[in-house]
Amino acid sequence: MSKINIAVVGAGVIGKRHMQEIASSDQCRLVAIADPSSEAEHQAGTLGVALYKDYRKLLDTERADAVIVCTPNSTHVEVGMACIDRGIPVLIEKPIADDLASARALAEASRTARVPVLVGHHRRHNPMVRTAKKVIGEGHIGKLVVANIMCLVYKPDAYFDVPWRRRTGGGPILINMIHEIDLIRHLCGEVASVQAVSSSRTRAHEVEDSAACTLELDNGTVANISLSDTAATPWSWDTAAGEDRQLFDYCPVPTHFFAGTNGALSLPDRTLWSYDGEKGRHRPIHGECTPMEEENTYANQLRHFIDVVNGAAEPLIDAHDAARTLAATLAVAEAAKTGLKIDMNADTRFRARDTIA
Ligand SMILES: NC(=O)c1ccc[n+]([C@@H]2O[C@H](COP(=O)([O-])OP(=O)(O)OC[C@H]3O[C@@H](n4cnc5c(N)ncnc54)[C@H](O)[C@@H]3O)[C@@H](O)[C@H]2O)c1
Repeated sequence: MSKINIAVVGAGVIGKRHMQEIASSDQCRLVAIADPSSEAEHQAGTLGVALYKDYRKLLDTERADAVIVCTPNSTHVEVGMACIDRGIPVLIEKPIADDLASARALAEASRTARVPVLVGHHRRHNPMVRTAKKVIGEGHIGKLVVANIMCLVYKPDAYFDVPWRRRTGGGPILINMIHEIDLIRHLCGEVASVQAVSSSRTRAHEVEDSAACTLELDNGTVANISLSDTAATPWSWDTAAGEDRQLFDYCPVPTHFFAGTNGALSLPDRTLWSYDGEKGRHRPIHGECTPMEEENTYANQLRHFIDVVNGAAEPLIDAHDAARTLAATLAVAEAAKTGLKIDMNADTRFRARDTIA
């Protein structure tokens, strides 16, 4: 099969990562970049591909079979819509949008035009997550009762030189916690209610620097997420899972805990805890590491995207699904702002049936 031509819109941190995976793939080639920044000129020059300041010009000029959108959150829908209008399958970085109405409009446009949208919740392509889904889904830890997740990182001050990361729509709830919420939805179940608190006291930006939320799932599981971008710890998926060791240090400590009635699972160390025989806190509990081959999560995501473009697979996370993750994430932001508990099945701003056409 001939290589498919992929264009990348937005050549910043994650755009470069996608371009690196495209360069390593024998199934696709980079056809052009769109990015108005001067840094992108250097990037395009090094890679020997055409650079467009306006992504629309790229879409109308180049023969792109597929597009990867890596621009700031607030532009995802506009660029995604332009691709759908031209019939071009698109991988849109997360979050799918920064508001629910436009996420739903994009999902609807994708459905009506039959142009696939894959959303960049890349962890779903991690074999560790596949293993966890099997362990939890097949009942190896009994009935899941609690999930406890830490996303506690220290982002260097220079990270915030880019203005959109300091402003509403660009904070760690939408940038980082959304990955955790997607993971919870994927592994544990749909979100039924949301309570949250947040603080911007340490960095004093327009957006929060720290937050915590408690989610009740439809199946009764309770999930807690602690979040901060100003906490000097090793306790986050980014450093512990080792998905991108060029960008982040690798420190494989457990950060994600799933507790069931018969046992427990921690990630990314994949330790499965259980009793021999009778259960009870007076009895010894044993941990055993579940074996797994390491894989490149971003390469897996790209291979899956190529299958989607070739019509060989449905998106593992499509626009409707990503809109549900966004709905729960925006509900966290809203609950933190108001201090009120949000019922995801009753509140018309967030409820899932409004997400599905
Ligand atoms: N899945 C992941 O692991 C992951 C990791 C990091 C970022 N992201 C997501 O990727 C997106 C980009 O994040 P980043 O950290 O790479 O940001 P960044 O600021 O490093 O890069 C964004 C790039 O987009 C360019 N840009 C802005 N407006 C544009 C437009 N209209 N057309 C073309 N280019 C435009 C900017 O010049 C910049 O080069 C965000 O939505 C973020 O949430 C995902």
